[in-house]
Amino acid sequence: MTRAVVLITGASSGIGRACAVAFASAGYDVCGFARNGEKLETLGAEIEDLPAGRGGYLEVVGDVRRADDLEAAVARAVERFGRLDVLVANAGVGYSGTVVDAEWDDLQTVIDTNISGVLHGARAVTPQMRAQGGGNIMIVSSAVAGVHTPYTAVYSASKAFVSSLAGALRLELEDDNIAVTDLLVGRTATDFSANRLGPVRKTMSGLPTQSAEAVAEAIVRAARRKPKRLAFSWFDRLVLWGGVLAPGLMAREAKKQYQPDE
Ligand SMILES: NC(=O)c1ccc[n+]([C@@H]2O[C@H](COP(=O)([O-])OP(=O)(O)OC[C@H]3O[C@@H](n4cnc5c(N)ncnc54)[C@H](OP(=O)(O)O)[C@@H]3O)[C@@H](O)[C@H]2O)c1
Repeated sequence: MTRAVVLITGASSGIGRACAVAFASAGYDVCGFARNGEKLETLGAEIEDLPAGRGGYLEVVGDVRRADDLEAAVARAVERFGRLDVLVANAGVGYSGTVVDAEWDDLQTVIDTNISGVLHGARAVTPQMRAQGGGNIMIVSSAVAGVHTPYTAVYSASKAFVSSLAGALRLELEDDNIAVTDLLVGRTATDFSANRLGPVRKTMSGLPTQSAEAVAEAIVRAARRKPKRLAFSWFDRLVLWGGVLAPGLMAREAKKQYQPDE
């Protein structure tokens, strides 16, 4: 039996890692992609220990900022598993601090990872999906994509970029039978805050937080349904609708949340 195959960027940690386990448990063959090879190996051992019926696993070390690395990952996944059905373009990095005082290298890293990384992923998988007669590109954006967020502005703007991209790409690729889903992820318990760039180390306590596993299960279900966009919790929906209906109020609230403590 041919299994469906998923390529997950940022599979070494957090949501991407939970997606790798959830897709493998659901019987997908998984290609896990990230820079940290050791963490990808540990993930492979965990997938091997899953009960019968699990999919296979291939780790590919690479950087989403490099188009060649993603093209190589697609080639290796197809060589190993024979096809490629789903991309979860998940790799991302945050930034906390003001725009104008930031180190340019940090902002460049956010832009290159969160925007170029998604573009490289989508462009790398499309030829294979076209050749197969279809596929599914799932883009990890954020519930704050539609909110103006002072002190994490470039991060949110990068997510606004990929949400906009997802909507347009869905129409560009519909004749190729390739679905594109905008995943509007909200606050999730991962190492994201610890890994983010910038001088501000404040964490947003007191807000509802979901587990990476719950997000991953919802992404696996959505891989079958292929919705245009997906929100994950009532709180995420509140943030999304707040950005549409009361943008000024939401921006003020965001400023309070993200403003560095004196
Ligand atoms: N956690 C949240 O509250 C939250 C909310 C909304 C959206 N999101 C989004 O969810 C996604 C995953 O974040 P997370 O919460 O799981 O954070 P995380 O635990 O920090 O994981 C980030 C992943 O991205 C990978 N990555 C970063 N830069 C990369 C690069 N240049 N090339 C390849 N891989 C790279 C990291 O792997 P390596 O370091 O091994 O490369 C890691 O696997 C991000 O796009 C984030 O913006 C998260």
